Amino acid sequence: MTQSVVISGTGLWTPELSITNDELVASFNEYVTRYNQRHAGEIEAGELAALTPSNSAFIEKASGIKQRYVLDREGILDPDRLCPNIPERGDDEISVQAEIAVKAARQALDNAGLTAADLDAVLVACSNMQRAYPAMAVEVQKELGMNHGWGYDMNVACSSATFGIQAALDAVRNGSARRVLMVNPEICSGHLAWQDRDCHFIFGDVATAVIVERAEDAVGHLQWEILGTRLQTQFSNNIRNNFGFLNRAAPEGIGARDKLFCQEGRKVFKEVCPMVAAQIASHLDDLEVPVPDIRRMWLHQANLNMNDFIARKVLGRPATREEAPVILDDYANTSSAGSIIAFHKYNGDLPVGSKGVICSFGAGYSIGSVVVSRVA
Ligand code: COA
Repeated sequence: MTQSVVISGTGLWTPELSITNDELVASFNEYVTRYNQRHAGEIEAGELAALTPSNSAFIEKASGIKQRYVLDREGILDPDRLCPNIPERGDDEISVQAEIAVKAARQALDNAGLTAADLDAVLVACSNMQRAYPAMAVEVQKELGMNHGWGYDMNVACSSATFGIQAALDAVRNGSARRVLMVNPEICSGHLAWQDRDCHFIFGDVATAVIVERAEDAVGHLQWEILGTRLQTQFSNNIRNNFGFLNRAAPEGIGARDKLFCQEGRKVFKEVCPMVAAQIASHLDDLEVPVPDIRRMWLHQANLNMNDFIARKVLGRPATREEAPVILDDYANTSSAGSIIAFHKYNGDLPVGSKGVICSFGAGYSIGSVVVSRVA
C-alpha cells in the first residue's frame, strides 16, 4: 500500500518593510527624469531613446499588484541606485537567505508540533541562491540545531516549492527521510531590474516553509494529505536570467541587462496559462477528483489576470476569491513562495475532507501541481 504522506505545518516570514506602487513609481520616474536630463543632448540628436515614466494605475491593472515587501527600501527607492542595499556578511555570520529561511522554518515546525530534532532533511527550494556553495540547506540545518540528517538546494524558479514538495514526498515514501523541511527563501529584490519599466513592479521578498511527513507520525492541528503531485517542464527562453559563475570568463557581459530577470511577459501569459489549466484538469482527472470537489486553488502569485484565466478554465466559470485566494496584491510575485503564502494564509478555514490544489508555474517553463485533502 502507498504510504500516506501529509503536509503537517507551514510557516511564513514577511519582511517588515514594504513599498507601495506610488512610492516605487515616484522613485522610478525621478530616475527617468534624471536620466533624460543627463542624456538630453544624445536624445535630442536621436542617438539615444528617452526613457518613459511608469504609472501606478497601469501596474495595478496589468498585474493586480498594489505593494511588495522587501528586505531593504532605501536602496531600491534611491533613484541613483534602484537596487537593494544588503551588506555582505562574514563567513562566521548566518547568511541572509539562511536567516529568513530559518524564521519561516521555525514557524512551520511550531505549527506541526515538532522541533528541529524531529527532522531528517532540509530542502532549500527557490529561484536564486546567494552563493554557489556550501548549500544553503546545510546552513539552515546547522542553524536549526539539527545534528543529523542531510540537506540540499534545488532551483526550479517559480515552481521550486511544488517540485520541492514532490522531492520531499518521494524522500518520505522511499524511506530516506521520515520528515522533510522544505523552505523557500526568496529575495527577489536581488534579481529584479528595478530600472526596467516593463517589470520593475513585479517582485517582492519573503520566506515560506512546509513540513512533509508520514501521516502516521503527524501530530499537527492542521494536516493535508498529499493525494498526488505532477510536474511538467518544457524549455523556453521567455523567462530567463543569465547570471552565473561563468560570467567572469566572459567579462564583457558582466552587468549587462540579461544578468537579471528578463521576460517576454505577453508570451509567458499566452503560453503558460493554457498549459497550467490543462495540467490541473488532467491531474484531477487521473486522481478521480471531480472538479466541483475542489474547494480551493492556491495558485502561483505572479499576475491576477493569469490566475483569473487559469481558475476560470479549470472551473468552467469565474472563481470567487474564496476559491482562488489572492495574496499578490500585498506581496507581489514572490516566485516559488507565492502559492505557499496563499496556502499558509488560507487553508485553516476549510473543514476536514476538503480538497484543493497548490499549483505553481514559471521559468523553465515549469509547472507543478499538488492535490491535497484536509485530514486533520
Ligand atoms: N507603466 C506604464 N505603462 C507601461 C509600463 C509601466 N510600468 N510597462 C509597460 N507599459 C505599457 C507598454 O509600453 C505598452 O504600451 P503600448 O501598448 O502603448 O506599447 C503597454 O503598457 C502594454 O505593455 P505589455 O508589456 O504588453 O504589458 P502587459 O499588459 O503584457 O503586462 C505584465 C505586463 C508583465 C504584467 C504581463 O505581461 C504579465 O504579467 N505577464 C505574466 C508573466 C509573469 O508575471 N511572469 C513572472 C514569472 S511566472
